[in-house]
Amino acid sequence: MKEQKIVVLPGDGIGKEVTTWGKKVLETFSGKNGIRFTFDEALIGHTAIEATGNPLPDETLQKLKASDAVLFGAVGHPKYDNDPSLKVRPEQGLLKMRKELGLYANLRPIRLFDELIHASSIKPEILKGADILFFRELTGDVYFGEPRERRDNGNVAVDTMIYSKMEVRRIAKRAFEAARTRSKKLTSVDKANVLESSRLWREVVQEMAKDYADVEVEHMFIDTAAMKLIKDPRSFDVVLTGNLFGDILTDEASQIAGSMGMLASASLGDQTGLYEPIHGSAYDISGKGVANPLASILSVALMLDISFGLKAESAKVIQAVEQTLKEGFRTRDIADATTATDKIVGTDAMGEKIIK
Ligand code: NAI
Ligand code: MG
Repeated sequence: MKEQKIVVLPGDGIGKEVTTWGKKVLETFSGKNGIRFTFDEALIGHTAIEATGNPLPDETLQKLKASDAVLFGAVGHPKYDNDPSLKVRPEQGLLKMRKELGLYANLRPIRLFDELIHASSIKPEILKGADILFFRELTGDVYFGEPRERRDNGNVAVDTMIYSKMEVRRIAKRAFEAARTRSKKLTSVDKANVLESSRLWREVVQEMAKDYADVEVEHMFIDTAAMKLIKDPRSFDVVLTGNLFGDILTDEASQIAGSMGMLASASLGDQTGLYEPIHGSAYDISGKGVANPLASILSVALMLDISFGLKAESAKVIQAVEQTLKEGFRTRDIADATTATDKIVGTDAMGEKIIK
């Protein structure tokens, strides 16, 4: 029996509520197919700052580096959102973790379950069949660029948008490879009409396209992409973009799937893989038992497939989600105002249904 070390990082707010269920789903596969999962928990974010003063304690980082996969919840607390002067912040833990683990490729599949077609505010006839795989670059761009500072006695603020050819190439390679296994269409999103870093991005993707002659490549400006995502989501298949544009576009794209509570992601590099919902700590609903655990559970489906090659088990998780939705069970965020047949359940009841 091969042991695989999973580090669970619940983090803050609903992160704790949803990872509980991601972990329980993972446990159901332990001890089968020659793989046993062992679990360890660690601190990150606001919770870690409160306990140690550090949003990513060394102990956490050491555990992460020794792990085979990470199940992460979310970080963030309203205290920091409303006080920009606080110097030690939860999201520093998240950014440092991505950088330290070299997690440069963030995969965000946008899957619309048929049962949720009315949960979205987009018209069903525009949505039907939408299926997009985003590749968001995760360790570069304006999130990490230097200098980042205040000037002129604090009256001017500077961030730096920066990309190297190497950074674009390695994420583009993953997107091209994925396009090959799907509909062979790749949309690269940038702002090359205005930004130098985007011109470099486009140059690299154009260059690489020669080696992937079987993939149809389309270059699109971020503003157009934001519009087309709502107007005609089915025109996208694999989307490749930078850190900032990807952050914004995938939140927008969550509305294709019905809710932020439905979207899973995988962050990959050369070492361990990290799996997390795309949503944050959602303090507006935290502690109320209403958070949708499906994004965390679907992140486990990605983990089973990508980190452990357990494709059938991964498909089983997705099937369980499909079945549960078919039976009419909905957390509040995906309930359909137009049907009376939805059975509204909380986080735990939804988790139990999936396990069953
Ligand atoms: P958010 O993603 O936490 O919430 C946005 C909206 O979606 C809220 O109305 C929330 O109730 C709803 N929502 C999110 N996840 C849900 C779920 N599983 N079930 C049902 N409803 C759900 O974003 P927000 O409110 O902008 O940020 C809250 C905090 O989270 C901030 O401190 C922010 O910095 C942090 N954050 C952390 C992220 C991470 O750790 N990866 C990502 C995004 C935000
Ligand atoms: Mg975001």
